[in-house]
Amino acid sequence: MHSPQALIATKRDRRTHSSEEIRDLVRGLVDGSIKDYQASSWLMAAYLNGLDSAETTELTLAMADSGERLDLSGLPKPWVDKHSTGGVGDKVTLVALPLMAACGITAVKMSGRGLGITGGTIDKLESIPGFRTDLSPSELVAQANQFGIALTGQSPNLAPADKILYGLRDATATVDCVPLIVSSILSKKIAGGAETVVLDVKCGSGAFMRDLGAARNLAAWLKDIGTRAGLNLRILITDMDQPLGSAIGNSLEVLEALSVLRGDVKSSVGRLAIKLVALALEASGTEASLEAAEARCVLAIQSGGALTKAREWLTAQGADPAFVDQAESKLPLGPVVRKVFIHSSGYLARADAGALGQLVVDLGGGRAHKEDLIDHGVGIQIHVAVGDEITDNEHCATVFAKTEEEADEAAQRVLASLYVTATPTEARPLVIEVL
Ligand code: URA
Repeated sequence: MHSPQALIATKRDRRTHSSEEIRDLVRGLVDGSIKDYQASSWLMAAYLNGLDSAETTELTLAMADSGERLDLSGLPKPWVDKHSTGGVGDKVTLVALPLMAACGITAVKMSGRGLGITGGTIDKLESIPGFRTDLSPSELVAQANQFGIALTGQSPNLAPADKILYGLRDATATVDCVPLIVSSILSKKIAGGAETVVLDVKCGSGAFMRDLGAARNLAAWLKDIGTRAGLNLRILITDMDQPLGSAIGNSLEVLEALSVLRGDVKSSVGRLAIKLVALALEASGTEASLEAAEARCVLAIQSGGALTKAREWLTAQGADPAFVDQAESKLPLGPVVRKVFIHSSGYLARADAGALGQLVVDLGGGRAHKEDLIDHGVGIQIHVAVGDEITDNEHCATVFAKTEEEADEAAQRVLASLYVTATPTEARPLVIEVL
């Protein structure tokens, strides 16, 4: 057994941890023999001096083993999970999960809440009256067995070492460290039982990774460590310079996801969900080619199969069976609705995802601190996309706010985040790279 001081000194002195040292570290975190101040010192040493691939792989596996692991062995294969590093307007999980289930994949997922400008799937789903986000591991598996689809919030029993480390990273300015991010994300995927994982690494002003170099580095690390840890991984780098789709805000994003499931396969949300699920079908050997897999996804949406799965899923987790057909009247929506008109003409060159994400947080739709309560009904819909021709006085956005004053201010901020130029700008591709 290595003492906490010895573990800290190894990283402080830029030496490499053995597997036993990493296992001792994780064991000490969970049994409390390593105190918060010691774990924090180790985190700062790891942040400054780095962890190599072997250390990061061992950390990932040790954190995955630090609690319960979901046992999906009684469920039909393939078992697929999907993860996004987080972006503004990213409601793809709400489409991709029922689409996977409609294509014969067992889709079991743990999701998080939003923090800062990137929203969280659990917050979006909690807009739906009655929807439960606290399924126990056994409820999760039983529901996945019956419907092929189940989603829950972070379980305290899965990868508890990550929960401890993540809390300390948040408080010690050590979140932004690639080996720590990679082990955090992948340990939860492994503990969640999936064999095939599709990871969407977002890149741009509305994402963790602002530039392509940083996104490529994170994607390469995820691929390397995930493969070493035994996962069958496909990774996409996708654009987050403009918001994904039109809606930002919890209820509004649920409505947009349902409209994609009703057949809007050409929208950006539809195209990205299809791409992710097609990669999962190909990677798991369910379809021989990406083209065949994409065609199967399009059919699953157009035939209504994916919408049927969404209905089964939401009802199984507590929503009214009529919810999907009456969502507009059942979801909370901000009482003040303000149309925003743009006063210039030309072409939309930029819709600043970071600024628009912050605006929705400030309207009350996101949280600055973990314990903040959120308002599910506020948000914005952006009716224009980068590359579109803009005419003077065009209705470019709609704001849903709590008060007239907040709606006025939000309308000004929406306009300040849209940049119009005289000459056309081509939008960055939605899918930038696939690894
Ligand atoms: N998401 C995670 O789960 N962990 C991180 O460290 C960063 C993003």
